Amino acid sequence: MPSIRILPEHLSNKIAAGEVVERPASVVKELVENAIDAKSSTITVEIENGGRSLIRVSDDGTGMDPDDALLCLERHATSKIADESGLFSIRTLGFRGEAIPSIASVSEFVITTRTKDSDNGTTIVVSGGTIKDVRETGAPIGTTVEVRRLFFNTPARRKFMKSVSTETAHIADTMTAFALCRSDIHFKLIHNGKTVKNWPRTKNPLERAADILGQNTKGGLIPVAHEEGH
Ligand SMILES: Nc1ncnc2c1ncn2[C@@H]1O[C@H](COP(=O)(O)OP(=O)(O)O)[C@@H](O)[C@H]1O
Ligand SMILES: [Mg+2]
Repeated sequence: MPSIRILPEHLSNKIAAGEVVERPASVVKELVENAIDAKSSTITVEIENGGRSLIRVSDDGTGMDPDDALLCLERHATSKIADESGLFSIRTLGFRGEAIPSIASVSEFVITTRTKDSDNGTTIVVSGGTIKDVRETGAPIGTTVEVRRLFFNTPARRKFMKSVSTETAHIADTMTAFALCRSDIHFKLIHNGKTVKNWPRTKNPLERAADILGQNTKGGLIPVAHEEGH
C-alpha cells in the first residue's frame, strides 16, 4: 500500500511558518523586507503587547493590484525572480515567496494594498491560512499588513513566546538593523500607541548611525566607502 502523500497547501504553509516565523520579530523582519523591496520611503511598524496582539506594517511603496494581492498569498509566489538566471542576480531581500503565506497561516491576517495606477485598493482577510474576504477599499498608495493573534492556531509556538518586553526588544533590534542599513528610508516603531523609535530619512548614513547609537558615538565613527556588484 502506498504511504506517501502530498500535503495539503494549508498544512505545508503551516510547516513553512515553523521555519520562517519564530516570533513576532520574524514577522516584522519579513514584512519590513517586503516594504523595502517595494521601494518604500516611509515604513511604519505598529505593535501591541510586544506583537502578540497586533503587528501592523504600513508602507508607501509600489503596492499590488488585486490579482497580485491574491497571488502573494500563494506559496512560492514572488515578483522578485522569474527564472533560474534570476537566482544569480538577486537584488532584493526576498525571493522565495514564502513569507506572506507562512505568516497568514498562523495568524489573523489582513492585507490592504493599492498601486498608483488604481483609484481603489484591495483588502484581503485571511484567518489561519483561509481567505475569508476579498473586497475593494479606499486606501493610500502602498501596502498595510496587519497580523493579529500570532500563533493562535499553533499552541506550541504561542507558548514559546517570551514576555512583552523581550518580544518588543527583539522587534526594536530588528528595526534598528534595517534603519542602520537604510538611512534613505524613514522608519517608525509604535508600541501600544506610543512612538518608541522615529528615524527620519537622511542622506548621510553617519547621521542615521548617530540617531540610533547616540550622538556621542559620532566622533568615533569612521566613514568607509566601497562599491561592488550591486
Ligand atoms: N509591502 C509590499 N509591497 C508590495 N508588494 C509586496 C509587499 N509585500 C509582498 N509583496 C509582493 O508579494 C510577493 C510575496 O511576498 P513574500 O511572501 O514575502 O515573498 P518574497 O519576498 O520572497 O517574494 C512579493 O514578491 C511581492 O511581489
Ligand atoms: Mg518577502
